Amino acid sequence: MPIDRRTLIHSLPVAGAAIASLAPASGSAGSANSSPRQRIRLDQGWRFALGHAADPDRDFGFGDFQRTFAKQGRAAGPLALTGYDDSRWREVTLPHDWAVELPFVNNIRFSRNPADKDDEDLAAAHGYKPIGRNFPETSVGWYRLTLPVSPSDAQGRVALEFDGAFRDATVIVNGYIVTQHHGGYASFGVDITEFLNTDGAPDVLLVRLDASLGEGWFYEGAGLYRHVWLVKTTPVFVPQWGVFARASRDGQVEVDVEVANRRETGADVRIEALVLDAGAPVASAQAAQSVAAWRDTTARLTCKVASPRLWSTDAPNLYVLRVTLREGETVRDVYDVSFGFREFRFDAREGFFLNDRPLKLKGVNNHQDHAGVGAAIPDALQIWRLKQLKALGANAYRAAHNPPTPELLDACDALGLLVIDETRQMSSAPEPMDELRRLVRRDRNHPCVMLWSIGNEEPQQGTARGAKIAKAMAREIRDLDPTRKITAAMNKGYGEGITEAIDVMGFNYHEELIEPFRLKYPDMPIIGTETASAVSTRGEYARDDKRSVVSSYDVDAPYWGKTAQAWWKLYNAKPYLLGGFVWTGFDYRGEPTPFNWWPSVSSNFGILDLCGLPKDIFYYYQAWWRDDLPVLHLLPHWNWEGQEGKAVEVWAYTNLDAVELFLNGRSLGRQSPPKDGHVQWSVPYAPGRLVAYGFRGGKVVLKSERSTAGTPARLVIETDRTRLTADGQDVAVINVSVRDKAGVIVPKAAVRVDFDLIGAGRLIGVGNGDPNCHEPDKADYRTTYNGWAQALVQTRKAPGDIRLMARAEGLTSAAVALSSR
Ligand code: GAL
Repeated sequence: MPIDRRTLIHSLPVAGAAIASLAPASGSAGSANSSPRQRIRLDQGWRFALGHAADPDRDFGFGDFQRTFAKQGRAAGPLALTGYDDSRWREVTLPHDWAVELPFVNNIRFSRNPADKDDEDLAAAHGYKPIGRNFPETSVGWYRLTLPVSPSDAQGRVALEFDGAFRDATVIVNGYIVTQHHGGYASFGVDITEFLNTDGAPDVLLVRLDASLGEGWFYEGAGLYRHVWLVKTTPVFVPQWGVFARASRDGQVEVDVEVANRRETGADVRIEALVLDAGAPVASAQAAQSVAAWRDTTARLTCKVASPRLWSTDAPNLYVLRVTLREGETVRDVYDVSFGFREFRFDAREGFFLNDRPLKLKGVNNHQDHAGVGAAIPDALQIWRLKQLKALGANAYRAAHNPPTPELLDACDALGLLVIDETRQMSSAPEPMDELRRLVRRDRNHPCVMLWSIGNEEPQQGTARGAKIAKAMAREIRDLDPTRKITAAMNKGYGEGITEAIDVMGFNYHEELIEPFRLKYPDMPIIGTETASAVSTRGEYARDDKRSVVSSYDVDAPYWGKTAQAWWKLYNAKPYLLGGFVWTGFDYRGEPTPFNWWPSVSSNFGILDLCGLPKDIFYYYQAWWRDDLPVLHLLPHWNWEGQEGKAVEVWAYTNLDAVELFLNGRSLGRQSPPKDGHVQWSVPYAPGRLVAYGFRGGKVVLKSERSTAGTPARLVIETDRTRLTADGQDVAVINVSVRDKAGVIVPKAAVRVDFDLIGAGRLIGVGNGDPNCHEPDKADYRTTYNGWAQALVQTRKAPGDIRLMARAEGLTSAAVALSSR
């Protein structure tokens, strides 16, 4: 490999700084001292137990004899109240996905018609976990927590905020059902002030989640797989998502501030909006506002920042808008949002412009799913994943097909990744509409959000009814956010139905229909909301239907898709196309295309596998997406025992002028890559050293090598970071590889690796990127797949040292030392 992955990531301009400077989440307290607002992340201290979706006896009696709503405060019997003994419930830390803990089950056998191909597709699509109506005993989960509140908090307001939960949440505080929420992805919140105990008794939060009904055709997880927050304010405060900052390139900031008054008396409030640049004030505005008792009101303020540092994908400059509410000299609330100055232009003829500069969108689609943890991706891992995409050269991310967790958007703001922010259901029914409203209110301050997407490949997309529904949704979005454009990902009916409701046409595949569409709608910008769907399995070089693996040469795509080179050449050659989003950045559970059947449990679409380990195609994109980095990557590996003398195709991905290939010192010729393509040789196999030299301006600037590996001799362990934060959340991503005695990775090695962890951390999951592997994600061992395995280590709240050792029978073991402070 020309440059190892770690060097590359550390050389990213934004990488190191990004974690430290990650933006404050919207609505976070300005500074704990000056603000009466407290926003507490409820990650620790939860107890969890499975319930039952069909049998109340095994569901803690919930719903027995229809008494759930009969008497308020008695919704779930004793378990909702203090004093219930939950010591037999398991301790869990959020984010938590119970689905990923369950074994894989070939659930096609539960189908009414196991011979039905559609049923088999669906079973595979969800990744073969026992979740859904056929599995009542594993589809309901209960979470219990004693809330960190005291009676004095009830003099103000206390609210719960869920970043998202899967699914059908019944939220119970001290026995009262305070809210029920159906969607598995939208954020929701509820004021719980009235339900808190007044006598100092502990306040119990109980959440029942029922994942029986799904929303996707991909693995969705189950549980409190995102953060839950407790927010304490005074009775005069900014409600959730109640600040909207509209910043233009010239430094103008227009701010809408909502003020809620939950008192018996009116409030005369002075609102101050302060723009902070790295903590220093650079602009401010003030307004006076009266808010009657038990009323909400909105004030508008404007201010101007002189010569703002613009936000862009290369320089993601962020500012903080601090809104302070005062009555007289008393501070009632401080509410921070992070925002940026930038301008988008979508041009149907010239493409996309960021701050007046053309920017081809080099995007990736992603679900929310990682090895070891499923949908419950800790923030640090989220950031790590996004950094892999930056390293790839991606500048855009589509949250397919649902609202992402807000922490993902904070990270995209900080790292400089544009986002298509997509709602889950294309419907104007009250509930989906409310989810859409919450999505826009929550995310409209993020500079990274470039487009709202109202849906993906909906059956109604080309119909008159679809148009009515889409128009209702678009109306709602424009009302809440007049600054952004709207798209939808379509796969037919282009020009019809919902087309009239959207601003930017999203093409999923069907590149042959782009030109005809453009002739009819020359003024409508076009974006490739989904492209490629090319498939490859990391470390495999031939499609093998018996083993359910596909080749890592860029040769395989389903009939609706295209290889990486085919789609990118096409999109890159047409300046009017804004760019495209590869399906997908990372492999994800479910949709194991092209093997939509057992035993395949995860997809092959990723540029990186389920562990975030790069497949060869990573380097194709890197070569053509990053003009700041010389790239040279050779494939395949060089262990073709038994094929001596037979031709092996050798490919190189490079953005250099030319590459010369040598086998065991003998030149096989020099070649120059065509634009957006690759070079290849047919090489009669002989074990030894395959070396490629990359030339730029006549000089060798990179060398890439593949040597024939001997037998496995030792393990090598690598961590993305050695210094972690002792917050019970931070995560180190640790990869283990199998090497021969010379240090060469053994490309086919399948070796069971046992992990021993000592110290101030815990192993939260393991993986290997094998789409057919049924080993548990929650374990202290993993078999390497094509030479690699991964362990995720999370810190505890107590500082200390952590040591992770990796052992394999007959091999020299390896260890890594981490420090958690
Ligand atoms: C698209 C769909 C995606 C995914 C993809 C697989 O049609 O929008 O969710 O299923 O196909 O190729």
